[in-house]
Amino acid sequence: MDAEVNPAGTLKGEVQLPADKSISHRVAMFAALAEGESVIENYSDAADPESTLSCLEQLGISVSKKDSKVTISGKGKNGLSKPVSSLDCGNSGTTMRLMSGILAGAGIECTLIGDHSLSSRTMKRIVDPLQAMGCQITTRNGEFAPIDIKPNNGVKGMRYTLPIASAQLKSSVLLAGLYGDMPTEIVETVPSRDHTERLIGLESEAFGTGKLIRSSNKVNVPVQTCRVPGDFSAAAFWIVAALIHSGSEISLKNVGINPSRTALLAALEKMGGNPEISNPREEGKEPVADFKIKGNLLKAIELEPALIPNCIDELPILMVAMCFADGVSKITGAEELRHKETDRLSAMHQILQSAGAETELHTDGITIHGSSDFIPKAAEFESHHDHRMAMAAAVLATKSKEASIVKDADCTAISYPDFWQHLSNLTS
Ligand code: S3P
Repeated sequence: MDAEVNPAGTLKGEVQLPADKSISHRVAMFAALAEGESVIENYSDAADPESTLSCLEQLGISVSKKDSKVTISGKGKNGLSKPVSSLDCGNSGTTMRLMSGILAGAGIECTLIGDHSLSSRTMKRIVDPLQAMGCQITTRNGEFAPIDIKPNNGVKGMRYTLPIASAQLKSSVLLAGLYGDMPTEIVETVPSRDHTERLIGLESEAFGTGKLIRSSNKVNVPVQTCRVPGDFSAAAFWIVAALIHSGSEISLKNVGINPSRTALLAALEKMGGNPEISNPREEGKEPVADFKIKGNLLKAIELEPALIPNCIDELPILMVAMCFADGVSKITGAEELRHKETDRLSAMHQILQSAGAETELHTDGITIHGSSDFIPKAAEFESHHDHRMAMAAAVLATKSKEASIVKDADCTAISYPDFWQHLSNLTS
């Protein structure tokens, strides 16, 4: 399906955000590893967290879903059974990388497969440390899925300094570490999202300028009865949409504000865009708050590379904001964007160029010559089958004078099934 996006004057209303994707995956997996029943409210209805649930069912875990309430009967860390067929992780990197850590640690014989995009994303980053821990895990061609896992002869704990700031890599190794008789210690010099540590309750301590996080077979995974917060990465599209349309006012309730996810707010603050954040509170083990965002003039910034791991999924929509910010904005140190569902640096560059924006692509970032007077050209935008490309292009297109097309728009179902309906509600 292609979507037509019409010019929008102002955006007004309240949005019911989709549930956080990263947290949904994790509460489901950890509920399966806990002993007993977990009741998860507001579980994401997006395609990626659904992939996680169906993998768990294939591993012999009872999962029942009624609307957004999911009940999972956990059988403990050693309660997973060998699946009869391949585990299909769909488009979901988090499913493949975290499940690999669990299954390789537990030594469950299985094969993990994914769609075309996931099968072209490197799995070497997880396979190398998992093999070093004694896990029997291989990719069929040295780097990409399918991934084959076999029973192991014991998992060795190890100290591992993360070579890249990736929460998927960190979590995969920590989860395999749950099966090791010696502690696995992750040294994290650049912080990435910490949902795994929070939800399991893993020990951590300061280490040099970073952190050391520990897991071992002494750790029992707790039951995950909780309510999943709204997804900050989905909120980001509406935060920017409201900011770039003067006269707009959008409200968002129950937004996850885990600091390891919200560096976009620091960037926008420097650009002059300050959402009003109220009612901060804890939901389960995660902080949440309510947002009100109004249109505002923005100015250019050079994004601090240190912020990148904490806004990695928000960089595409930040690039859209930069097109409307007066001056020259720069993102550097964002090479990881090339390893997402698509090469998001090249894809965003192509989208912004189609709209007539003045941009220069670099190996690790982008330069954007922005202006508050910028009017994007109406265009046919390629989504590259990537949910975040489709949503970023849609927000950009609302600033055009004529209708645009976003190609393969249904890929938004990966993280945000109601995106197009919500856009239409806000603009009507
Ligand atoms: C995620 C971590 C990030 C992020 C992805 C979800 C997670 O990936 O881009 O959308 O749930 O752990 P990396 O760990 O590869 O940076």
